[in-house]
Amino acid sequence: MKRTLLAAIFAACFGAAAIGAQAAPAGMPTVKPYHQTIKDCAVCHTEENAVAGNKFVVPSDKTCMGCHGDYKAMAEKTKNLPEPNPHWSNHYGSGLSCTACHREHSQSKVYCNECHEFSYKIK
Ligand code: HEC
Ligand code: HEC
Ligand code: HEC
Ligand code: HEC
Repeated sequence: MKRTLLAAIFAACFGAAAIGAQAAPAGMPTVKPYHQTIKDCAVCHTEENAVAGNKFVVPSDKTCMGCHGDYKAMAEKTKNLPEPNPHWSNHYGSGLSCTACHREHSQSKVYCNECHEFSYKIK
């Protein structure tokens, strides 16, 4: 009796460990260091973002803005940079999506620098 109970506990523990391991297999996309507190992929990969039932696509700006505020709020934060405001440029205003520059699972790349050579410190 005692043995089966122990075995059951072991099974439960190993079962949980196996599920834990499945949640983050090798090659799974990792989030940026500043987003480590976001433990659930679904915070960004919402049902609302899903394309043909697949949630793991590029999230919409609404996702980012839900936590960071809108373009105006972002532009306010970066208005005193030595370079032009990336969140409010004369060509695009607020017409670029956040993910045109900010990547989550790879290195971010400032879209402006396709044509310019601004020295931003993007994360
Ligand atoms: C659930 C809330 C949440 C969502 C959704 C979210 N962020 Fe964040 N983000 C944070 C928090 C919290 C931080 C760390 C504190 C800070 O720097 O504001 C952060 C930090 C950042 C930083 C670094 C800021 C700095 O100065 O270090 C960038 C850039 C950023 N987020 C961009 C994005 C983009 C782009 C998206 C959409 C793809 C996004 N975030 C979605 C909460 C969120
Ligand atoms: C054209 C490129 C571009 C787009 C589009 C863009 N960003 Fe940024 N963002 C930057 C750059 C560049 C910086 C860093 C500027 C620096 O410090 O040099 C930055 C900085 C930030 C920061 C840190 C601000 C701080 O406190 O200093 C956050 C948070 C952020 N962006 C979120 C967003 C969100 C949310 C969106 C969409 C609403 C967005 N960004 C759209 C280029 C962009
Ligand atoms: C803070 C928001 C955020 C979180 C949290 C997040 N992602 Fe993403 N994800 C993005 C963004 C932004 C993209 C667009 C491509 C990129 O930026 O790397 C993306 C793209 C993807 C893609 C599609 C890749 C492509 O290029 O089409 C997959 C798959 C993905 N994420 C998986 C995950 C998984 C799994 C988790 C949880 C471990 C996760 N994401 C957590 C923001 C997020
Ligand atoms: C597709 C190419 C392209 C992209 C992308 C681009 N620009 Fe420009 N930009 C130009 C051209 C062309 C001019 C006009 C010629 C010039 O003055 O260099 C210009 C001019 C400017 C000017 C006024 C001239 C100056 O250098 O003082 C600013 C400021 C500027 N861009 C900021 C930005 C910002 C910020 C972004 C990203 C949000 C951006 N640009 C993205 C091509 C681009």
